[in-house]
Amino acid sequence: MEVTVATAATLEALAALVAAQQADPRSHIGYLGDDATSIAADLAGLEPDGLDGVLVAQAADRVVGVLGAEYDTDPPRVWWHGPFVAGVDDPGEAADALYGAARQRLPGVVREEELAPDDRNQLVAELARRHGFVAEEASAVLTRPLWPTTDPPADHPEVAIAPLAAGHRREVATLHDTTFPGTHTVSDRLDLGEERRVLVATSHDAGVVCGYVAVEVQANQAGYIDYLAVAEQHRGRGIGGALVSVACASLAAAGCGSATLTVRESNGAARALYSRLGFREVRLLRPWRRGFRLNDPVAEADPVPPAEPAGP
Ligand SMILES: CC(C)(COP(=O)(O)OP(=O)(O)OC[C@H]1O[C@@H](n2cnc3c(N)ncnc32)[C@H](O)[C@@H]1OP(=O)(O)O)[C@@H](O)C(=O)NCCC(=O)NCCS
Repeated sequence: MEVTVATAATLEALAALVAAQQADPRSHIGYLGDDATSIAADLAGLEPDGLDGVLVAQAADRVVGVLGAEYDTDPPRVWWHGPFVAGVDDPGEAADALYGAARQRLPGVVREEELAPDDRNQLVAELARRHGFVAEEASAVLTRPLWPTTDPPADHPEVAIAPLAAGHRREVATLHDTTFPGTHTVSDRLDLGEERRVLVATSHDAGVVCGYVAVEVQANQAGYIDYLAVAEQHRGRGIGGALVSVACASLAAAGCGSATLTVRESNGAARALYSRLGFREVRLLRPWRRGFRLNDPVAEADPVPPAEPAGP
């Protein structure tokens, strides 16, 4: 087996391998879509190296493994896209070969690493354990269809919901930073215009910001709800639900057939709200982190059930 850097010539074959793996929960990872076209575009567009950040394992002229690296220097972190392995006798060995080679290519300053496999993906979980990654709380991926179109959301009696206005930027940034400390999307990168739109709930009486939601139209017209927060003193009055309803309506108006989001497994308040609005769980994504933590580690279930004690 040979590990080389991906090229435009191998892109189609490696995207096909990744698409087949993404379709199976036991080899699925977060970060990447499901169809070969969007996967090829995502891998070719990995920051900062594009295809130079993607390694391919080949055996007998066939692509048998793929691992992409997206990394940053602030924070000095890599998000591993994979590894994906198929058609070899020892997938763990191929995964290790890809990971070892890809790690060598990273700038030395990048010390923080993250993997985000589907919780049923044993290949990546085992690689993570072998290399000292620590499992943290999973996030549930929830989705709901947006078609056939539902009625427009009812107006909320206390707040108006509208796209972020310049005058509310500072209040939204404060709410974002206090609600999601340490998140990768810092507040000044929250509203990206066309790419990610922020909708804001402001009170009718005082004009203060009570909450916001961020929505994105992703590849293939897939709608994504990225952040949702309501200021503590305004919670429990239907504002979060109203924001999600308006977010869904705006995604439907942009031509999206579904809305997807991720939520921490333990976030009961948000999960109840999403469930009430018709969102259903598709999968759990398990973050494995090395060199940094965003949450406390979770106690892992033993992947191999212990043998029954011998009877008397
Ligand atoms: C999750 C969050 C956005 C919910 O906001 P909220 O404004 O309290 O949400 P709502 O008021 O619409 O819904 C909360 C509960 O209040 C109830 N409620 C009370 N008065 C209500 C009213 N007048 N109208 C509608 N619902 C009302 C709802 O039934 C709902 O209960 P349920 O979800 O168990 O059915 C908020 O708790 C928050 O910002 N949390 C921190 C950030 C976070 O977790 N974000 C989600 C990340 S994915």
